[in-house]
Amino acid sequence: MLMITGATGALGTLVTARLADRDDVVIGSRSPAPGGRRVDFDDPATLDFTGVDTLLVISAGAAEDDVVITRHEAVISAAEKAGVGHLVYTSLSGDGDHLTYALAHRWTERRLRGSSLEWTVLRNGLYAEFLAAVAAPGPDGTIAAPLGTGRLAAVAREDLADVAVRVATDPAPHSGRTYELVGEQALGGADLAAALDATYEPATLAATREAITAAGQALPFQVPMLLSTYSAIAGGFLDRTDDGTLRSLLGREPRPAIEAYMASVRG
Ligand SMILES: NC(=O)c1ccc[n+]([C@@H]2O[C@H](COP(=O)([O-])OP(=O)(O)OC[C@H]3O[C@@H](n4cnc5c(N)ncnc54)[C@H](OP(=O)(O)O)[C@@H]3O)[C@@H](O)[C@H]2O)c1
Repeated sequence: MLMITGATGALGTLVTARLADRDDVVIGSRSPAPGGRRVDFDDPATLDFTGVDTLLVISAGAAEDDVVITRHEAVISAAEKAGVGHLVYTSLSGDGDHLTYALAHRWTERRLRGSSLEWTVLRNGLYAEFLAAVAAPGPDGTIAAPLGTGRLAAVAREDLADVAVRVATDPAPHSGRTYELVGEQALGGADLAAALDATYEPATLAATREAITAAGQALPFQVPMLLSTYSAIAGGFLDRTDDGTLRSLLGREPRPAIEAYMASVRG
């Protein structure tokens, strides 16, 4: 049996859609549809993985580090206890170490390496769709995201779903492997603006921090998450493109990240 956690999130939805015709797949979520199983890393009583051969753990990363670490400790411990054969974990690309949210991913990777489980780490690069969420043009047609002249080797979320499905449905050849999954093209603010016929006028980090805070929609921990994302891109830390790993695991050309970005901006 293959179980997917976090199945109703954006990545989880793409993964489960690809597995819809299989009867050996169980959907795990905090709010599962009929036929699925309630799996909430914050509620240990829901972490019964008896009979699960492969567990695809979609990281539950939108929280403070201590919360994410506690969640991931709970799910790995429960998998060990139940004798799960193989755990596949969606992590963050290695060049993302300057991002504030890298710490909990690296903690989880280290925990997995020391576990009794067979494991595979999918180090997902930042999604093109995430870039659309943080670097879309405003109502005046200007992209003000503080990317400087930096670029991001963004990757289409659908490609990451395809890789997750490929690995999770045949995990044995991937045991003990950590895959860096970044896009083939690095995109900067000028590239995004050109694609959308917009203009690119990057704001300062200070002005961006102020605007995010003033908008009142970000939780306190999300402000440094966002700022570190901009800063790491602007600093040129996230522009290393695919070394062939993504293409090879997909068995085809990756989807162009700029198209995923444009589609996401246009909704
Ligand atoms: N590479 C990137 O650009 C990028 C961007 C954003 C986030 N991420 C990371 O990648 C993960 C998946 O991305 P996404 O786009 O699918 O994010 P998303 O749409 O925000 O989904 C968040 C996921 O976290 C799960 N989750 C949250 N709290 C949980 C808990 N207590 N127990 C179990 N699961 C919990 C949700 O599962 P259910 O609601 O179904 O239970 C959902 O699948 C995120 O959680 C985050 O760690 C990566």
